[in-house]
Amino acid sequence: MSTTTVQEMAAATNESFTIKDLVDFSSRTYGDWRDEFHQNGCVVIKNVISPERAKYYCDKQIQWLKNFELGFDENDESTWTADHLPVSFKGGMYFAYGSTHEKMAWEARTEPAVVDIFEKLWETKELLCSFDGLNISMPRRKDLNWSPWPHCDQNPDRKGMQAVQGLLNFAPNGPKDGGLMLMKGSAKLFDEFFAQKRDQYDHEDAPPPELKYMDLFLFHEKDLKWFQDKGCELVKINMEPGDFVLWDSRTMHYACLPEGDQIRHVQYICMTPKRFATPQALELKKFCFENSMGTTHWPHCNIRPASEKPMRNGEVCHKYRTEPFEKPERTDTVLRLAGVKEY
Ligand SMILES: [Fe+2]
Repeated sequence: MSTTTVQEMAAATNESFTIKDLVDFSSRTYGDWRDEFHQNGCVVIKNVISPERAKYYCDKQIQWLKNFELGFDENDESTWTADHLPVSFKGGMYFAYGSTHEKMAWEARTEPAVVDIFEKLWETKELLCSFDGLNISMPRRKDLNWSPWPHCDQNPDRKGMQAVQGLLNFAPNGPKDGGLMLMKGSAKLFDEFFAQKRDQYDHEDAPPPELKYMDLFLFHEKDLKWFQDKGCELVKINMEPGDFVLWDSRTMHYACLPEGDQIRHVQYICMTPKRFATPQALELKKFCFENSMGTTHWPHCNIRPASEKPMRNGEVCHKYRTEPFEKPERTDTVLRLAGVKEY
């Protein structure tokens, strides 16, 4: 498939929004974490993987940073700078270098208890997984200009709960360790907020318009107050190794930078029902999988093949690569979640 064909397919896939609720959960009660999730638009699920398994992922992520041979040493804080690290977004989010298809990313996505969360949530076993990034954030970085960027990852024209994002947390994550900030309750107010015309905040880290992140809305500072005045609460999500957090993509959120001693280790994981995807989206997804390309947080649509090269000091990073260091095992679960194999 040529690059032009891929871009055309991506554009066609993204042309129309489904503007109705894809699943109506309004009458359901479950007696478990799903009730809290549907009430608040977010929930923390404890002990999804063991502390030992979480440590395995921390070690794998550190090794991944070291694979670039840029002099990074997890025990030497003087090496916790951009010069010694692959190029990231917001001080620790990695999407390039084939990272979205590293073996460790697929291992995390296919942890049985992780898949089980999304199966329960969507009430189906036929799911697709996002080709999303990971986050390894060093605390006390002195070489970063960082500012909060409250946003949601659902286009205002999409109505209802159309995607649910999650992250699997690997390292201790307390109040000073940075991490996820959520505007609890904001998902339910999404339609009300966007009932009037809203301007996006022109954030310094906003993607350039030509990238067409169709499921991203950046909020102004005053918008936080709008949600808080309606009873929402901005909360820092504290987690232990092995915990998982889910949030409705309509939820306002951002990540704050760690200020304690702990390195933050996270894998972003989103799953949605395969039946939400069009045949074109599935074809594009398969192409991305086979070429180790990342996409967006969205598993079933907005399949935007990430082809931007990581830029370092105005030039393509000399460590640029398009393949993972360790390729994923092509298990049935991996291939089905990637949209490559039929259920
Ligand atoms: Fe986000």
